[in-house]
Amino acid sequence: MAVLPLSRVDVRRKRVLLRCDFNVPLAQGKVADPRRITASLPTIEYLIAREAAVVLCSHLGRPREPDPQLSLAPVAAFLGQRLGFEVALAADCVGEAALRMAEGLPFGRALMLENLRFHREEEANDPGFAAELAAGKQVYVNDAFGAAHRAHASISAAPRLFPARAAGLLLMREVEMLRAVTEHPARPFVLIVGGAKVSDKVGVFKNLIGRVDAVLVGGAMAQTLLKAQGVEVGRSKVEERALDSARQIVGQLGRAGVELVLPEDFVVAAAPEAGAAARVVAAIAPDMMALDIGPLTAERFIARLSGARTVVWNGPLGYCELPAFAEGSLKVGAWLAGRKDVLSVIGGGDTAAVFDSQPWANGFSHISTGGGATLEYLEGRELPGLSALEL
Ligand code: 3PG
Repeated sequence: MAVLPLSRVDVRRKRVLLRCDFNVPLAQGKVADPRRITASLPTIEYLIAREAAVVLCSHLGRPREPDPQLSLAPVAAFLGQRLGFEVALAADCVGEAALRMAEGLPFGRALMLENLRFHREEEANDPGFAAELAAGKQVYVNDAFGAAHRAHASISAAPRLFPARAAGLLLMREVEMLRAVTEHPARPFVLIVGGAKVSDKVGVFKNLIGRVDAVLVGGAMAQTLLKAQGVEVGRSKVEERALDSARQIVGQLGRAGVELVLPEDFVVAAAPEAGAAARVVAAIAPDMMALDIGPLTAERFIARLSGARTVVWNGPLGYCELPAFAEGSLKVGAWLAGRKDVLSVIGGGDTAAVFDSQPWANGFSHISTGGGATLEYLEGRELPGLSALEL
């Protein structure tokens, strides 16, 4: 799929509609985790440096109508601080007032439109709404990789109204990295999968099975795979309705000659609670639940990763919301981040959050800003946001 990079579009002194994914957590009216905003700053700065007038738009949360709690005001304030000039917020993303503000925006400055999802037409991919968003702008740029799997007006219908449309720097990097690991990955290629549900990852297994050499599984989903093979998992979280899929996955991996590495020891506790007495065991007792991979498993994962040239990691290996159960992910993560000879791509919302505060986190080749979008890309599905950029 060929999308035009930003460098191929003339943006100088143009009015640019820039779709970003500023769907970030807020706390007390402030941006609580700015990663998705800072990830798009290079694109915004690139446009500002070329004296474009940048009209930013994004969704935040899943409102069906205007909701002051989900205003993009905190994002506009954050951007203003980072860019060093005030980023005004248009009270609505469409309508006369927003259009006037966009048309009056000086070149080399940015304006934020209010939450796109305050209008149901956004999710309905409404052509009239898309035309209103496009009004008064000459260039469309999509940097919202995290929302590229949504066929919504600002992502799908709007770009098609612009003869000049391009991928922002973040979106381009995301696509390049994901393409590198899915299309022609250097072998050995090891996939690390974690998280809660087997059913969320079935598509990823299916798509990558013919290309990977080994799959390392942690997180609650490991217990579903173990139970499917008759292993006692106590009170661990198990996705009962996915036991059949789990058996199928194990069978498919076996037939394809892909090595499957499951946990051999576990950090268990009676409940996923702060302060719960945790211990390392090789077998899970009936009254215990597995909440992390054990140290032996972490070592085995690292041993299997040694020599790998491509690694894709989707989903945490333990209940990382609590530090006591994040050790396995951090141990394997720290080791992987230190390998400069490996193309390592970390993807899917929760996974990135586990590593975020670690000083070594920038050692990975790429941490994707996408959750669902990354997963769908890894499943080999077409992303509407990318199709709409094709010329
Ligand atoms: C995300 O957080 O994954 C994206 O911003 C998409 O949000 P959505 O799942 O509400 O469409």
